[in-house]
Amino acid sequence: MGSPAPMKPRPPRRRPWMVGAAVGLALVALAGCVPMGPMGPGHMRRMMGRGMMGPGMMGGRLEPPPAVTVVPTATPGGPATVSYRRDIQPLFDAYCVACHGGQAGLWLTSYEHLMAGSRHGPVVIPGDPEASELVRRLTGASQPAMPLGGPPLPPDRIELVRRWIAEGAPKN
Ligand code: HEC
Repeated sequence: MGSPAPMKPRPPRRRPWMVGAAVGLALVALAGCVPMGPMGPGHMRRMMGRGMMGPGMMGGRLEPPPAVTVVPTATPGGPATVSYRRDIQPLFDAYCVACHGGQAGLWLTSYEHLMAGSRHGPVVIPGDPEASELVRRLTGASQPAMPLGGPPLPPDRIELVRRWIAEGAPKN
């Protein structure tokens, strides 16, 4: 009986998840660079790429949507159903004020600041979400998309903002 066979050094292993992560990140980066016309096919691809890969790849997760995920249907001319205080400002607080609380030329810390817009003018056009820079930045129709450098907001959050503006962007 000799001494036990020396342990063989393990061959270095490739870690498939790392390769996957690298490829994923590269894709996200690529997708982010593709110049886009408004709502072109590139836009969709990018939204999908970011939506599906962004949060996982960053190691962080988007917060689970709060209980109020059902976006109420507004009757035109009827009572407003999205509340600035309850639905909109908390989104800004969570996703935007780190930058838009005194920098980036736009304050998102209150209704008055939001409506004051930036030096380029208003970012909310009451009644016209698609013309509102706020929505265009959230959907990526205007670049750079917001939140800058992060994954887009969940679609139901963007829909809330859209709806609030469609309802006239009230201070409610
Ligand atoms: C990491 C920092 C950062 C975060 C987070 C961020 N922004 Fe921005 N945002 C910027 C910068 C910088 C600009 C100016 C870039 C430009 O338009 O050239 C900007 C520009 C904008 C503009 C255009 C303003 C104008 O008229 O010039 C809007 C609207 C906007 N952001 C909305 C948002 C919203 C809504 C969120 C949260 C969902 C958000 N941003 C999160 C940094 C940020």
